[in-house]
Amino acid sequence: MTSSISQQDYLQLVQDLNKFSTAYYVKDSPIISDFEYDQLYQKLINLEKQHPSWLVSFSPSQRVGGEPLSQFNSVSHAVAMYSLDNAFNDEDLIHFLEKIEPNIEKQQQISLSAEPKIDGVAINLRYEQGKLVQATTRGDGKIGEDVTNNIKTIRSIPLALNGDNFPAVLEVRGEVFMPYASFNALNENQLKQGEKTFANPRNAAAGSLRQLDSKIVSQRNLSFYLYGWGEISTDFPLKETYSNTIAQFSEWGLPQNPNSKIVQGIEGILSYYQFLAEKRAELPYEIDGIVYKLNDIEQQKQLGFTARAPRWAIARKFPAQEVWTDLLDIEVQVGRTGALTPVARLQPVSVGGVIVANATLHNMDEIIRKDVRIGDKVVIRRAGDVIPEVVQPVLGLRPDNTVLFKMPAECPECQSEVLKELNKAVYRCMGGLVCPAQRKRALQHFVSRKAMDIVGLGNKLINQLVEAELVNHPDDFYKLTIEQLSQLDRMAEKSANKVFIAIQQSKKTTLARFIYSLGIPEVGEVTAANLANHFKTLAQLMSANLEQLIMVNDVGNIVAENLTHFFIQLHNRQVIDNLLLHGVYWDTVESNDKTIESVFNNKIIVLTGSLSSMSRTEAKKQLEALGAKITSSVSSKTDYVIAGDKAGSKKTKAEQLAVAILNEQEWLAMMPDNKRDK
Ligand code: IVH
Repeated sequence: MTSSISQQDYLQLVQDLNKFSTAYYVKDSPIISDFEYDQLYQKLINLEKQHPSWLVSFSPSQRVGGEPLSQFNSVSHAVAMYSLDNAFNDEDLIHFLEKIEPNIEKQQQISLSAEPKIDGVAINLRYEQGKLVQATTRGDGKIGEDVTNNIKTIRSIPLALNGDNFPAVLEVRGEVFMPYASFNALNENQLKQGEKTFANPRNAAAGSLRQLDSKIVSQRNLSFYLYGWGEISTDFPLKETYSNTIAQFSEWGLPQNPNSKIVQGIEGILSYYQFLAEKRAELPYEIDGIVYKLNDIEQQKQLGFTARAPRWAIARKFPAQEVWTDLLDIEVQVGRTGALTPVARLQPVSVGGVIVANATLHNMDEIIRKDVRIGDKVVIRRAGDVIPEVVQPVLGLRPDNTVLFKMPAECPECQSEVLKELNKAVYRCMGGLVCPAQRKRALQHFVSRKAMDIVGLGNKLINQLVEAELVNHPDDFYKLTIEQLSQLDRMAEKSANKVFIAIQQSKKTTLARFIYSLGIPEVGEVTAANLANHFKTLAQLMSANLEQLIMVNDVGNIVAENLTHFFIQLHNRQVIDNLLLHGVYWDTVESNDKTIESVFNNKIIVLTGSLSSMSRTEAKKQLEALGAKITSSVSSKTDYVIAGDKAGSKKTKAEQLAVAILNEQEWLAMMPDNKRDK
């Protein structure tokens, strides 16, 4: 019962949830399980529904984003937001220190805070009585924009400060940034949606904060580290050093970069550079340098500011991760799944200290969207462990004789036809059975349990067979002798015998398995069974046209195209002929009533709750394809209830009637692998 809960209890719940969230997002050490958190959060949401007047601005429910704004309001900064002067080499750093302290001995004693300079967006967070009331961008340093709603969606920014010894007014400053993982996921998603990608994490962070709809921002997974402050109530005693002040802020729940260090003199400055330069590639976010700040606040005050920047701080820049070079040519690489990726051949250039001669162009749509042409001057970007990529052409420098790139019509590896997948940016080689680029994967698929099921032929063995050029195409398995097998690494005669027998036994198969084993893109186990049942013979299937294929249950335009193009390839047909010549056979397909052997065939099933792997409609479709009947209510006739998240009364009823209940994982484990290529 919720009626006995008081407003005080509600506020306590908000405070608790905020504490748990800080432990998770800021301190990186959770003090409550996700499950318990979700339950308490749900309780909070219910309370806020029942008592709308209780809702407070710092409730965690306020992080999901609200109504879109029509514009951002301008806000004058109480204390100006400065920029930083740059140092590009060691001399610049020595010079910076000399200006602060000319005496060399004293210079060596100077303490500085050294910290990563994250490439993101500077933000001012204003807390009043410990509650986040406003968040503003830097703008021109004097006037910024109010982006409070967007900032509230960032989980590592506390909506309320911990403890109670904070000043009445506290402005904290730091960098909002997008970690690589979020950046890559965002761009992948943008590509899928046919939207424009972001050139780098900083653009993505800045673009996100400029969103008027905070609901979009809440999905962008931005993060934050603090590095300074603005206005603070005058009666509040500040610590004597910058690092102690920052440490105090972090006790209130504001995240501090764990890689910041206090260093001494020029030696400390230079060795921190070494330390961070080495660490740069493994950091989960982009940095463009280091910021060194004098640690003593009194000394900071004495030095003061120039018009643009403090005299007590300096940014040491790292070599750029973005450079310009010439795009000499575009070649095509064939991946393990047959997908063709255009690769830029570049005039070699050093990017962030590494020589880059090739960079990915992702796919044809990207080339068209970015209008990249052979002969262009292009921007190359290399960040973290990510493969270098061509960001865009430098249009202002485009020569007259650039050449447009065209995807080849034939696979550069096996000369099979190249097909553009319907509605997708992917071009794929249709020579699945013969293409060297796809060889190992195709062979592994061919022998797998749901395909030809050749027991004992693991990936390592296949690799050896391919490398020894004993097996190039699936039909070669059937030409192997015991002698050849026993000459392989770690193959005693006994195991060679076993593998040989397994190969011979696999010859007796079913048409459905045979079709599945060919590894045609998007033709999974279920589709293969439907095709076998429909066409009855391989010859009929191979000569079917698009219209005939689309008649088959579960076969749409894409699958039909893949099938026809696969069977047109002479190379593929040759391999299929050879397989049959070597004695692969199956019994005639007879009845049509059983689509596939499955535990769900003829079973009555109820789906309830939400599934994380797919929608209920999709689950229903897949189960029906296996011969199951899906009903909406639970009775004693029900064979299974598949219960997703937040399953309610149907699950309870199943428990009462002792009907078997499967959770999502249990259910998926019982499903056949549907699609080969995702
Ligand atoms: S201190 C008054 N510390 O770099 C000093 N800035 O190029 C203000 N930045 O606008 C800045 N990491 O957005 C400082 N650890 C760090 C930083 C940092 C990134 C950004 C910040 C600033 C820009 C100046």
